[in-house]
Amino acid sequence: MIGTGYVGLVSGSCLGDFGNVVRCVDIDAERVRVLKQGDIPIYEPGLKELVSRNVESGRLSFTTDVGEAVAESEVVFIAVGTPSNPDGSADLKYVHSVAESVSRYLNDYKVIVTKSTVPVGTTRKIAAFIRERAASDVDFDVVANPEFLREGSAVEDFLRPNRVIIGVETERAKDIMRKVYRPLYLIETPIVVTDLETAELIKHASNAFLATKISFINEIAAISELVGANIDDVAKGMGLDGRIGSKFLHAGVGFGGSCLPKDISSLVYSAVSRGYEPRIVQAISDLNRELPVRAVEKLKDEIGKLKGKDVCVLGLAFKPNTDDLRDAPSMPIIKYLLEEGAKVRVFDPVAMDNFKRTIRLDVEYCKNAYAAAEGCHGLMLLTEWNEFRQLDLVRLKGVMREPVFIDCRNVYRPERMFELGFRYRSFGRGVERTRQKEQEK
Ligand code: UDX
Repeated sequence: MIGTGYVGLVSGSCLGDFGNVVRCVDIDAERVRVLKQGDIPIYEPGLKELVSRNVESGRLSFTTDVGEAVAESEVVFIAVGTPSNPDGSADLKYVHSVAESVSRYLNDYKVIVTKSTVPVGTTRKIAAFIRERAASDVDFDVVANPEFLREGSAVEDFLRPNRVIIGVETERAKDIMRKVYRPLYLIETPIVVTDLETAELIKHASNAFLATKISFINEIAAISELVGANIDDVAKGMGLDGRIGSKFLHAGVGFGGSCLPKDISSLVYSAVSRGYEPRIVQAISDLNRELPVRAVEKLKDEIGKLKGKDVCVLGLAFKPNTDDLRDAPSMPIIKYLLEEGAKVRVFDPVAMDNFKRTIRLDVEYCKNAYAAAEGCHGLMLLTEWNEFRQLDLVRLKGVMREPVFIDCRNVYRPERMFELGFRYRSFGRGVERTRQKEQEK
């Protein structure tokens, strides 16, 4: 398993659990040192136990020696990062560098698998790239085997997936992949075997579709506010139709994370570079980008100009149960608040260290939600951590200068918040607009 980032580490240790012997490789010696001493460099529930269980059983080890790991393995998974270039295309420099190393150390027949999300066509290009460089007498096959891991439940998603997609070109590689995933065959997990390009596109299309559901419900939420409907009930009513399904219809400040935004850009780029202008997929991102601005506008509606005001932000991570800040709505929102002259006090149960280390915005870090809300003119709830679902609202209101609560994840019920005396705004609940109009009269 080359790459011990999020995908590599979860996949490597889970494949160990399936009974395979896995060597996880990383060029980052410090990361490998940390892993060898039993520490996990990312926050992911269940991962630490899984890693130590497999290390103890001798099925999982860590190394910086890519040559040895490739030479001793029958299957080589490429699980390195594929960040976005400024034009939206995927930056494949890490994938190419791994392909380079693999070609150097191919000593025997191997199956080389793309696990990272790569643009459609990449696995075939990797095959050509390795073929050009590897010794002419060694044989290999390539496989596209995309991951569908949700941060926060990645281990569960790997061990009990909805499906496994295997893009393959030969029976030999297919049989080897079947052995790698044997326990999943035993529990009758659907395994979809396709060609390389189809497997790669399934991954992009799945993520684009999930994002479509979110942007769609957020669009309906905007309409809900205008017509006086309640988006929670609209989503429930829609979701009960088996063809629609209730998941991913939760309105709010939109999607972030390491996958959805990046994979959508890459899909758009793949289409445009081949002469097709995707309209739906493009609109998903455009709509999603507007939501942080809409959230701050809701705050401004309530407290007016932000200059000199204290604003509390609860939640920095792009979603609960992770410390991942990539494309989190907290970023544009906090930047916007600071640009407008607000002072920002933040709290997140897990992601503050990461924020301090990587983002370095001029905010005040607080020890809990109530400390963050202390003396604030307004509060914005950006991540629906469990502890933010059960806030002591009376205490919270008591410490705030003004009881303005912008609930960007629709965690609370408007009626209850009004009863408690909050000036409460969320996404897509028409009752708030009606209430505002009453107050204006
Ligand atoms: C996603 C896919 O689910 C996973 O299959 C893929 O391989 C990687 O990308 P992840 O990025 O971990 O996983 O997050 P996910 O749980 O899918 O949530 C994505 C974003 O959408 C989050 O920001 C979340 O807050 C938001 N979201 C999700 C909504 O706004 N509404 C919803 O109804 C669901």
